[in-house]
Parts: sequence; C-alpha cells; structure tokens
Amino acid sequence: MTFEHKSVLLSETIEGLSIKPDGIYVDGTLGGGGHAYEVCQRLSNKGSFIGIDQDAAAIEAAGARLLDFGERVTIIRSNYCDMKSRLHEIGIDKVDGIVLDLGVSSYQLDTADRGFSYRADAPLDMRMDTRQSMTAKDIVNGYSEMDLFRIIRDYGEDKFAKNIAKHIVAARGKGPIETTAQLSEIIRQSIPMKIQKTSGHPAKRTFQAIRIELNRELEVLRDSLDEMIDMLNTGGRICIITFHSLEDRIVKGIFKKNENPCTCPSTFPVCVCGKVSKGRVITRKPILPSAEELETNSRSKSAKLRIFERS
Ligand SMILES: C[S@@+](CC[C@H](N)C(=O)[O-])C[C@H]1O[C@@H](n2cnc3c(N)ncnc32)[C@H](O)[C@@H]1O
Repeated sequence: MTFEHKSVLLSETIEGLSIKPDGIYVDGTLGGGGHAYEVCQRLSNKGSFIGIDQDAAAIEAAGARLLDFGERVTIIRSNYCDMKSRLHEIGIDKVDGIVLDLGVSSYQLDTADRGFSYRADAPLDMRMDTRQSMTAKDIVNGYSEMDLFRIIRDYGEDKFAKNIAKHIVAARGKGPIETTAQLSEIIRQSIPMKIQKTSGHPAKRTFQAIRIELNRELEVLRDSLDEMIDMLNTGGRICIITFHSLEDRIVKGIFKKNENPCTCPSTFPVCVCGKVSKGRVITRKPILPSAEELETNSRSKSAKLRIFERS
C-alpha cells in the first residue's frame, strides 16, 4: 500500500514559516513528508531539516520521499514531546522553525489493520507508536464506565457519551470487545436512529475520543509547546495545524500566554511579576483552508493553522 496523504494548509504553512534558506527546521509530525518536502526545497546546502514521527510507516515513507535532499535531512522515530532531547543528542539546541500537523495521517486511517477506522473491520488497536503496549482494546475493555463517559464526552464531544459508555460496559460483560466492527455496532445501538440519519457516522466521535486518549494527544501537545517556543531562535516561527477545538484551544492559549505572560493584576501601574514576553502571535485569527482546498480535501474541513514568532 502506498503512503497516500494530501497535506493540509500546505502553502499557508510554508509561507507562515518564513523560511531562511540556511536555517534549521523541524517537523514534529513528519507523516508522509508532504510539508517536509516543501521545507527542504527551500533550504540551501547549509540549511538542515529534522523530521520526527512516532510511526514506523511514516518514517519509512518520508525517508524515501526526502532521499534526494541527502545530508540536509535527519529523520528520527520519536514522540515530538521529546524533541528537545532528541535534537540535543545530534548537537542542535536552537532552531529557526517548527511544524506540527496534528492527529493521524490518511495513510494511518486507511490502513485497516491499524484499527483507527470505523469503516473497516480490524482488531481494536489505534496506536500511532506500535512499540507502546497499550491499545484501544485495553481502553474499551478496561476503563470504568465513568472514564469511558468522560473521554467520549470530552475528547469526542458526543452528546450521547453517557449512553455509549453504558452500552460498551453492558456489551463487554458478555465477552471482550475485540474489533472495530464490534465497537462500531455497539455505538450505533447507543444513538437514536433519528440522529444517526442526520449526523454522519455514529462511531466517528467515539473513535476519535479513544484515539486521543490512547495516544495522549492533548497532554503531549500541552506539555510540549512552551519547550518548543523556547527552542526557537529570534525570528523563528512555529506553525501548528489542529483538527478539533480541543487542540486549537490549547495552542491558542499557550501562544497567548507566551506573548503576554504577565500575571500582575491589571490595576498595577507597572509589571512586577518579571515574566517577559517570548514573542508574538502572528495569527490573531487562525488561518483556515481555502474554498478550493475544502472542495478537494475533506480532511481539511476542521483544520486551523496558528503561528507564533519568537522575539
Ligand atoms: C497529519 S499527519 C502529518 C502529515 C504530514 N504533515 C504530511 O504532509 O505528509 C500526522 C503525523 O504525525 C504523527 N504524530 C502525531 N502525534 C505525534 C507525536 N506526539 N509525536 C510524533 N509523531 C506524531 C502521526 O504518526 C502522523 O504520521
């Protein structure tokens, strides 16, 4: 199977990075190397690019795609939350730009046996990093009803979270839930028929929630951004593409806090907390896909790009 993935907000991200040809650039979510390729094309022989992904298939696909750029490119299999130490290991402490294009790739979704998709029947897996031992099956069969409810409500924003959690717990009482098709059917039975007809696939939100929980997507993002901003050289930029409101809220909040970290009460005439701004938010409002992109790439529908520049 070839690595099919149409990069989202590609030209907007490349423009947003404001690439210096001799600079050092990092993509923490390398995927098929779509954004990476465009970055590398803009680098001189003195520039360098480091691509990070936790998924072995992405590493292989991007490695092949970026082969022509030779020594300029370094590819590392890792979680982007370890970016600072991974780069330090290869002698890099400061960079000129960082890209994060969050979530899963179309390739991951379309590879049935990875268990990400409710459209194909496969073992419940959903690991981005297959070196990790916990899978979606452990969550579905092991989490309490309360915890299932919480993640489906918070990470899936599903109105029927309570009912879905209840149905999952009742179903697994009869035997373990092993496959995506089994889970999908249980979810379908938890959602009123009237709603199913109007709101897309009934399992979509729950699958998203389980994937986010399993891969700790929000914690990892929340815990990495300050450190990434600290790694930027003056004038360096970080561009982040998010795909749902929870991610976007985290990025927006952390960018804002780095722009204006002062915690002094607004009644104070001067700042006494001593917290200094690290730069500025370039995107007051997020950049959204064009009408043309929306038409040609359905994955771009919920995408938002936010950019921060280090001072
Ligand atoms: C949307 S795809 C990126 C596509 C890429 N920008 C392109 O144009 O081809 C997201 C990729 O990020 C990876 N990923 C997501 N979260 C990650 C994390 N915390 N650490 C490392 N890789 C991650 C996934 O494995 C996936 O390959």
